[in-house]
Amino acid sequence: MTQPPDPDGTTHIGYRRIAREAKARWVRHQFDRVAARYDLMNTLLSFGIHYLWKHRAIGLLDLKPGDAVVDVCGGTGDLAVAAVRRTGVRGRVILYDINREMMLAGKRKRSCRRLRRRIQFLQGDAEAMALPGNAFDAAIVGFGIRNLTDMPAGFREMHRVLKPGGRMVCLEFSRPTAPIFRWLYDQYSFHVMPWLGERLTGSREAYTYLPESIRLFPPPEALAALLTSIGFRQVGYWRLTNGVAAIHFGTKASA
Ligand SMILES: C[S@@+](CC[C@H](N)C(=O)[O-])C[C@H]1O[C@@H](n2cnc3c(N)ncnc32)[C@H](O)[C@@H]1O
Repeated sequence: MTQPPDPDGTTHIGYRRIAREAKARWVRHQFDRVAARYDLMNTLLSFGIHYLWKHRAIGLLDLKPGDAVVDVCGGTGDLAVAAVRRTGVRGRVILYDINREMMLAGKRKRSCRRLRRRIQFLQGDAEAMALPGNAFDAAIVGFGIRNLTDMPAGFREMHRVLKPGGRMVCLEFSRPTAPIFRWLYDQYSFHVMPWLGERLTGSREAYTYLPESIRLFPPPEALAALLTSIGFRQVGYWRLTNGVAAIHFGTKASA
């Protein structure tokens, strides 16, 4: 099932529909609630595999010392830290996120303190970034694009801020391909995730929204077609862990 267009001014929050203008507020509220336990939940729910996925995603950006990078919907900064490690002291890494609590949780993290200090945290909406065009060598979004009200707008913004020849990587949940594995994953995500979310973060809602929004997210082929229609070139994708997640990549055409 993919997300249908919004003809009547409404959009999806998981399987529910609400007014489009209310979604960003709702998403922000959910991340406010889970920010303090966000990393712990990620690690528990994915059995730590999200670190491997992130490592693979950042590797695809092929960063070089001195590169300018924007980590869109960067949250607590795992991808931004990995980018700082690669771009070095001459590089510039901006973490762009709408949610202050998530960014504060990222700033307070004990791991990689020295690298974290080099990240520039900017609060704002990924659908209309307060960043100049043609300015970044690379743009990455990890598990964030699904939360936007207007996902194509988010990708258009990433395309806009990239320099010609700049690289874009999107890491996002997807749907397992093998039927039995998919069934097991559905049981896990619709029952275990909300249960654990309620116990550890106090928000069953956020972790009910998570699997629902994943089911509504476009399949890899459709997402690749969207990226191409936006203007990305050399678009491709990899399925990860039997399709539980997928990495899409593309390049902004050289001038
Ligand atoms: C699931 S977290 C991902 C965090 C991080 N990228 C990671 O991989 O762990 C999604 C993030 O997207 C942010 N977000 C949601 N809607 C946004 C928007 N419209 N603009 C910018 N950030 C947004 C949330 O605040 C949250 O930090």
